[in-house]
Amino acid sequence: MTSIEKARREVRPWNLDGISEEQIAQHWALYEGYVKNAAALREKLELLSKVENFGPEFTELKRHWAFEADGVILHELYFEALRSGGASPNEAADVTKLLKKFFGGFAAWKKEFTAIGKMRGTGWAILYFDPRAAVMTNVWIESHEYGHPAGAAPLLVMDVWEHAYMVDWGASGRGEYIDAFFKNVDWATVESRLHAALNSYAPENPNRR
Ligand SMILES: [Fe+2]
Repeated sequence: MTSIEKARREVRPWNLDGISEEQIAQHWALYEGYVKNAAALREKLELLSKVENFGPEFTELKRHWAFEADGVILHELYFEALRSGGASPNEAADVTKLLKKFFGGFAAWKKEFTAIGKMRGTGWAILYFDPRAAVMTNVWIESHEYGHPAGAAPLLVMDVWEHAYMVDWGASGRGEYIDAFFKNVDWATVESRLHAALNSYAPENPNRR
């Protein structure tokens, strides 16, 4: 097993509240499909690039690669922050302070994040921190690859494609699934992502630690 494969295995969640083992197993199998497809597309694109064949096939595969590759990244961020026992972040956590600064508090932030998660369509609700502008914001991501704020760090990633909840809650169960999601957020992981982002950019960033 390579170190990448080992790291991937370690992000797989288990024993969640309201998200069953079968749901995770089916979702994980889909995620593995993204890993396989992204690697296969990368290989094809490298071959085309080597022979300088930048025609329509290259163009379409390049576009499609973004779908598969972002599918890999988002699923890993999603699974990694799902651990049983989560409720809300610690009062003293930096993420709590920033949620207060930008949304008025955890409850108000959660309301907006949930509303974004319930938006019609297939995609993701993501809490982002942009270290360049020192701004925290909730974002709707269409599909996997459209709408990401460039350079911002995804702190909390919620999959709201139907496959994320169909097994447990059925096609119309997105609301129940989102409630279950919030019972399983690992806020320590969110906090460590925030710290990495705060340390990642620009000396003039007032939030730099
Ligand atoms: Fe998914």
